Amino acid sequence: MIEVCDLCKAFTVRERRSTFALRASTRNVVAVDRVSFTAHDGEVTGLLGPNGAGKTTTLRMLSTLLTPDAGQARIDGADVASEQPRVRRSLGVLGDAKGLYWRLSARENIAYFGRLHGLAAPQAARRADQLIDELGLAALAERPTQGFSQGERMKVAIARALVHNPQTVLLDEPTNGLDIMATRSMRELIRGLRAAGKCVLFSSHIMQEVAALCDRIVIIDRGRVVFNGTPSEILAASGKRSLEDAFVQLIGSEEGLFA
Ligand SMILES: Nc1ncnc2c1ncn2[C@@H]1O[C@H](COP(=O)(O)OP(=O)(O)O)[C@@H](O)[C@H]1O
Ligand SMILES: [Mg+2]
Repeated sequence: MIEVCDLCKAFTVRERRSTFALRASTRNVVAVDRVSFTAHDGEVTGLLGPNGAGKTTTLRMLSTLLTPDAGQARIDGADVASEQPRVRRSLGVLGDAKGLYWRLSARENIAYFGRLHGLAAPQAARRADQLIDELGLAALAERPTQGFSQGERMKVAIARALVHNPQTVLLDEPTNGLDIMATRSMRELIRGLRAAGKCVLFSSHIMQEVAALCDRIVIIDRGRVVFNGTPSEILAASGKRSLEDAFVQLIGSEEGLFA
């Protein structure tokens, strides 16, 4: 279970007002502004918002890669700021950069992460076998990941995120750049995680993606939660007939509506 309460994060950025400005000035960019929501076990929760809404920043704070400026977040009761080792053990994370070790084979990438998570070598190897089988990676398993297609890389990255069998899974735009078949298999995988009772939080800027999968949708825009509820609650609250229309009304723009 993920509990987020009034989470905030701002970045100080340097900018030159004009080409002729002698010095850069600094400005505060508020990326996440008092975000609160809860994501439950056995459910898929979608974090939906246009580019720049604050999705990645929120997920990075949950995965302990960034320290929140204010507010709190807990993963199964463990605080992301003060109990980082506990949080990291219970989380599987697919970040927005899906960097793999390109000299290592798919199998080695997965097993290596198992070792980093503290699995013994035979256990990491067994788990890699299992994930290769579940994700249909057998034909690729012994190839170095250099030269893998986007969908193939995504599968390996997902396997790597799941190697220690985490209870909570954070996926940052897991279907970005995937073709229809790869998107379908990613959806199947996410449904499988839900059926196994996992808590899945995934971000997307595509309404249809979220609508197809989620039990609960948290819509964020410019760092703020503008809606939090089930798809039918979104429809009821907006008085619109389609989720697309409801989304456009909530964020006041059509940005990010379509793939
Ligand atoms: N490291 C950073 N330094 C400066 N600004 C950042 C940084 N990370 C994110 N931002 C800014 O914070 C806002 C939210 O970004 P992000 O969380 O990546 O959005 P999303 O993932 O929803 O597209 C954007 O305005 C972005 O430019
Ligand atoms: Mg992002």
